[in-house]
Amino acid sequence: MKNNNKQLYLKKDNPNIDESKEFIINARKYLGNKTNFITLINQVIDENHLNFNSVMELCMGTGVLSYYFAENGKKVIANDLLPLNFILGKAFMSMKRHIDKKKIIELIEYCNKIQGRKGELTIRFGDKFTSKNVSSKADAIIKFLKDNKEINKYEKYYIVSSLILALEKASEIDSDYLGLERLEAQEPEKLILKPLKTLPNNNVQVVNGDAIKLVKEQKADLVIIDPPFDDSNYSDYMVYPEQVVELACPEIQKPSKSDFYNKEKVKKAFTELIENLDAKYLMFWYSNDGIVSKEHLKEVIKRKFGRVVIYDIIRKEGLHLVRNEPKTDFMILGVKK
Ligand SMILES: C[S@@+](CC[C@H](N)C(=O)[O-])C[C@H]1O[C@@H](n2cnc3c(N)ncnc32)[C@H](O)[C@@H]1O
Repeated sequence: MKNNNKQLYLKKDNPNIDESKEFIINARKYLGNKTNFITLINQVIDENHLNFNSVMELCMGTGVLSYYFAENGKKVIANDLLPLNFILGKAFMSMKRHIDKKKIIELIEYCNKIQGRKGELTIRFGDKFTSKNVSSKADAIIKFLKDNKEINKYEKYYIVSSLILALEKASEIDSDYLGLERLEAQEPEKLILKPLKTLPNNNVQVVNGDAIKLVKEQKADLVIIDPPFDDSNYSDYMVYPEQVVELACPEIQKPSKSDFYNKEKVKKAFTELIENLDAKYLMFWYSNDGIVSKEHLKEVIKRKFGRVVIYDIIRKEGLHLVRNEPKTDFMILGVKK
């Protein structure tokens, strides 16, 4: 059968990542981080003459795409179910109004000198993801944030985000913590918090909810959906930073169960999600190894939007999604007729 799909060749975009002074959102270690897709997305926007002012990213993960579009003047709604992504998303993308940079620098300096103390992270994880020494420092920082009444909610989110990124560096994870075997470090691991390179504008509304609920309440010209494609839950992949957020920010509700991981429910969930969209354009990213078929997604998107273009993603060596397993991903573009 003739294949009419278009092809997108994924290369390393190599954005300017220099984290010597600040942590950068694009460098976040996260399975599915779309940093390297930004050039391809612009290619798709240009060749289809997409014209839009607002973007809603329903499963933002790191939020690199939301950050990119907001930086380029679009109004953005960025959502993810995981509290971890909400905290980091808020810290990187919607803090301009709330942060006193001088106070933040002082807090970071204090945290970088803190004495470790045995707490829940040290007890639960021991030497598993990083050294006990690093986990005990993280425990001490969490206690400091909780005890110090002069630190407001936004400052706390900022410091917790910096802590999570510092733990990523100390753990030397590839993209997630699942099955991570820590190698004996050559040198004592260090926990070094840094300021974040935050967005200079207020274009992003960061939300922590279920995509299915959000589409019934919000709309945007361009909607981006990059859901998980199998039944492995992201809260297992990110067990260590999720625990940090749970301990430091108990006021944030635990996430509800996502139907996107449930083999029996996911097909109906995606159908409901797409049918409820109020948008001119949709970019739906998925994998041929996913638990819903490309044909089903194509049919539902075509019914809703009228015109679809399917892009197969061809990965260059070293850019495979999961630990060097060559997966074929695709993106279905829906365009309202
Ligand atoms: C493939 S990752 C997205 C990666 C993202 N594109 C990036 O650039 O980092 C899938 C995300 O979907 C989120 N997710 C799973 N079920 C969800 C739901 N029902 N509503 C919102 N987000 C959900 C997960 O927490 C995970 O962060």
